[in-house]
Amino acid sequence: MLKRAKFIFLTVMIGLCLGASPVLAQQALPQSSKAGRAHAKAQDPWWKHAVIYEIYPRSFQDSNGDGVGDINGITSRLDYLHDLGVDAIWISPMYPSPLVDFGYDISDYTAIDPLYGTLADFDRLVSEAKKRNIRVIMDFVPNHTSDQHPWFQESRSSRTNPKRDWYIWRDGKGSGEPPNNWQSWFGHSAWKLDPATNQYFYHHFYTEQPDLNWRNPQVRKAMYDAMRFWLKRGAAGFRIDAVSRLFEDPNLHDDPILPGKNAYGDPNIAHKYTDNLPEVHEVLREMRRVVNEYPGNPVLISEADEPNIAELTKMYGAKNDEVQLPMDFQIADVNKLSAPDFRRLLSEIDGNAAGGQPHYFFSNHDQPRQWDRYGDGVHNDQIAKLMAALLLATRATPLMYYGEEIGMRTTDPARKEDVQDPVGKIGWPQDKGRDGERTPMQWDASRNAGFSTAERPWLPVPASSAEYNVEAESKETGSILSFYKQLIALRRSNPALRNGRYLPLNREDPFVLSFLRKKPGSGDAILVVLNMSAEPRTVKFDLAAHGVKESSATPLIAAPEIGHEATVLTHFTIPAFGVFIGTVH
Ligand code: GLC
Repeated sequence: MLKRAKFIFLTVMIGLCLGASPVLAQQALPQSSKAGRAHAKAQDPWWKHAVIYEIYPRSFQDSNGDGVGDINGITSRLDYLHDLGVDAIWISPMYPSPLVDFGYDISDYTAIDPLYGTLADFDRLVSEAKKRNIRVIMDFVPNHTSDQHPWFQESRSSRTNPKRDWYIWRDGKGSGEPPNNWQSWFGHSAWKLDPATNQYFYHHFYTEQPDLNWRNPQVRKAMYDAMRFWLKRGAAGFRIDAVSRLFEDPNLHDDPILPGKNAYGDPNIAHKYTDNLPEVHEVLREMRRVVNEYPGNPVLISEADEPNIAELTKMYGAKNDEVQLPMDFQIADVNKLSAPDFRRLLSEIDGNAAGGQPHYFFSNHDQPRQWDRYGDGVHNDQIAKLMAALLLATRATPLMYYGEEIGMRTTDPARKEDVQDPVGKIGWPQDKGRDGERTPMQWDASRNAGFSTAERPWLPVPASSAEYNVEAESKETGSILSFYKQLIALRRSNPALRNGRYLPLNREDPFVLSFLRKKPGSGDAILVVLNMSAEPRTVKFDLAAHGVKESSATPLIAAPEIGHEATVLTHFTIPAFGVFIGTVH
C-alpha cells in the first residue's frame, strides 16, 4: 500500500492448510503413492520456496515502440528471469483501465488492456513462463472499480438501478456537506457528490475509483467469477490489492482526527472506520475457497499495511484458511539499518501463532526503492547486497521488485509538470508521487536503456542506467546482479537455506544481525552474519547450544568478497555493511 503518502494467526494448523485433513496430516503416508505425493505437496507447497518477482508492466519491456511496456515485452525477458532464478512473477494490473491510477482503476476484470496486448499474448506468456518453471500471479483489485466500469455506469444511472447497491451511495448532510469526515488515501474527502441522483459515492482512493459494496452478495459472486476466469487460464494465484479497505462502518461514524496535517493539506486522521473491519476475514476465507477449487496450490498474497504482528497473524486465518502470504510491511518499512529492529520483527513473524509462512519485501511500485531508503549515500552498492542477503537468506518467501537486483534507485520527477502519478500532482512538492520507483527497467547502456525504441518512454530513463544495467552487471562478478544470482542459486540448492529453521544468534548485538538456518536433526547449518553499521565489527559465536560442534565457518558467499579460508567463530571480524554466509557443522 502507498507508503510514500503513508499508504497505504500453530504449527498444528499446518495440517489443515490447503484442505488437507488433520487426520491425513498426522499419518505418514507412503511417498510412492499418489496420495502420498499429493500430501507431501500440500505440506510443502511451491510458494514456501519460491522467489517472487514483481513486474510493473508499464516499465519492464516495451515490445512495440509505444514507450509503454507490454506483455510480449515480459515474455521476451523470461530467459533473464529464469537465469536470475525467479520462480514466480506477480504482474501489476494489465486489465482495461482509463489509467487514472495506472491500472488500479479497472473497467473490465476479465480482459487485457490493448496497451499491454491481448488475451492470446497473456496465454502465450503463461505457457512460455511454464516452460521455464515460472508461475504467473495476477494482481486482483477488489476494493474498487474504475468509474468507467459498466457496473458503476449502471449504478450511478438512477437510485433504483439494480446495480445501485453494488457501490456505497449515501445522502449528504445537507448544505453541500458530505455524509461524514472520511478521507481518501489520496487526499481530501472520500465522498463525491454525483449530481445526477444527488447522492454521494464513497471512494477510498481516487475519485475515479468508487468502492464496491462487499456486503452485496452479487458483488462477491461477480468478483469470485473474475478470479476463476484467470485461474482457468493458468494464473498461479493473486496479489490482492488494498484488501483491508473492503468494508466501511455502515453507521458512518466520523473517523478520529489526529494532530497535524498531511501532504495534501488535510487534517491527519485515523482510518478507524474504513480500514481492517472484521468482515475482511470472511471475504478472505471465501477467496481462499475459490483458489482452492483449482489444482497446483494457487497462492493468495495480501497487500495490507498491518500495524502489528497480531493483525498480520490474523491474515493467515484462524484455521490457516485465508491468505498464505501476507506481505510484511513492518519489515519493509523499518527504514533504517537497525539490527535490533530487524531482529525483533524477524522473530515476531517467525514465531507467529498461526504458523504461517513469513513474506518479506523491501521495494514495490508504491514506495521509494530500498536503494534510497536503506543506503547511506556512500556505501549504497554494499548496502544493496546487505538488503539482498536479508531478503534471501531468511526463512521467508522473498518478494523482489524489478530492478532491485541491479541497484535501481528512485528517480523522482524534477518538475511538477513532468509528474504522471496524480498523487504527485496533488502533493507536490512534499509528495512527488510514485513515478520515481516506476522508471523503466535498465537493460543495457543503449538508448532508453534497452527498454523502448520510442522517442520518449512514458517515464524518463534515469542517468544512472549507464552504469547500473543488466548487461554491464552480468559481466561483472562483483556486481549487485551477480550477488543476487549467487544468493538465489544457493537458496535453491542448499537444504538448510531452503528449508531450515531460523535461529537468531547474539540477540543483544546492536550492530550485527546474525542467525543460523538449520534443519532439525541435521548437523549442517548455514551461518548468516550481516553487519548493519558503517564500522567493521568483531563478533563471537558459540553455536554448541544449537548442536554445532565446529569452531569455524566456511564461506559460501561474502560481500565484500573474501577467500575460501574458514573463519574462526570465536573471533569473527565482519567489514562495514558486510555480508557473510557460510557453512558450519
Ligand atoms: C494499492 C496499489 C496502489 C494503488 C492503490 C489503489 O495500494 O498498490 O498502487 O494506487 O492500491 O488501488
